[in-house]
Amino acid sequence: MNWRRLITRSVVTAAFLGVAVGFAAALSLEKIDQLTSTDTFCSDSCHVMADYVAYQPVYVNSPHRTTYTGIQAGCADCHIPEGLLQATWTHAVSGIRDTWSLLSNDFSSREKWHASRTGMAYRVRDWMLANDSATCRSCHEQDALKPRRERGVRRHRLAQRKHVTCIACHYNLVHQKVAPRREFLRKAGVWPLTE
Ligand code: HEC
Ligand code: HEC
Ligand code: HEC
Repeated sequence: MNWRRLITRSVVTAAFLGVAVGFAAALSLEKIDQLTSTDTFCSDSCHVMADYVAYQPVYVNSPHRTTYTGIQAGCADCHIPEGLLQATWTHAVSGIRDTWSLLSNDFSSREKWHASRTGMAYRVRDWMLANDSATCRSCHEQDALKPRRERGVRRHRLAQRKHVTCIACHYNLVHQKVAPRREFLRKAGVWPLTE
C-alpha cells in the first residue's frame, strides 16, 4: 500500500467517524435539551423553583397555565430559546449560574427568596428585550394578534409601527408582580410612547 492511499483512507475514515460522532452528539444534545426543558425537571431538580415559583397560585391560575384551550406555556417555553445550539447554550449557562446562585445564596425562606426576586426579574426582562421577545414569538404570531379590546388594538398598531417588543408592555405575566424600572421602559421605547 502506498503512502498516498493510506493517507486518503485515514482522512476518509476520520471524516466519516467525525460525522458519525457529531450526529450522535447532536441527537443526545437534543434529548438532553428535551429532558431538561419540562416544568417537572425545572421544579423537581430545584425545590426553590417548585416552592416559590411553580406551585404559586399566581403561576397556576395565570392565563398561561389555566387556559380555555388547554394549551399551556411552561418554564422552558418562555425561558429557553428554540434551536439546538441556542437552547443548549442557555441551558448550560443558566444551569451553572442557577446552581452557583443556589450555593452562594440562602433561599431557605420565602422572604429571602423575595429579596432576590427583583434583580432576577430585571435580568429576565433585559434578556427578553435584547432578543426581541423571541420566546414569546415562538407561540404568538405578531401579525395574527387580535386583541379583544380597542385599547389593545391601538397599542399593538403603535407597537408595530414603533418596533416596540412584547416584553416592554407584557411583563408580570405569570409570576408575582415586580414593578418595572424606568430605564427599562425608556430603553424598550414605551416610556413615553404616544401616537
Ligand atoms: C408565559 C411565560 C413564562 C412562563 C411560562 C414562565 N416564566 Fe418565568 N418569567 C417570565 C417573565 C416575563 C419574567 C420576568 C419577570 C416578570 O415580568 O414577571 C420571568 C421571571 C422569572 C424568574 C425571576 C424571578 C421572578 O419572580 O421574576 C424566575 C426565577 C422564573 N421566571 C422562573 C420560572 C420557572 C421555574 C417557570 C416554570 C415553573 C417559569 N418561570 C415560567 C416568563 C415566564
Ligand atoms: C407555549 C406557547 C406560549 C408562549 C411561549 C407564550 N405564550 Fe402568551 N399565551 C399563550 C396562550 C395559549 C395564551 C392564551 C391562553 C388562553 O386564554 O387560553 C396566551 C396568552 C397571552 C396573553 C393574554 C393573557 C394575559 O396573561 O394577559 C398575553 C398578554 C401573552 N400571552 C403574552 C405573552 C408574552 C409576552 C410571552 C413571552 C414572555 C408569551 N405570551 C409566551 C401561549 C404562549
Ligand atoms: C405598546 C404596548 C404593547 C406591546 C409592545 C405589545 N402589546 Fe400585547 N397588548 C397590549 C395591550 C394594551 C393589550 C390589551 C390588554 C387588555 O385589553 O386588557 C394587549 C393585548 C394582548 C393580548 C391579549 C389579547 C386579548 O384581547 O385577550 C396578547 C395575547 C398580546 N397582547 C400579546 C402580545 C405579544 C405576543 C406582543 C409582541 C409581539 C405584544 N402583545 C406587544 C399592549 C402591547
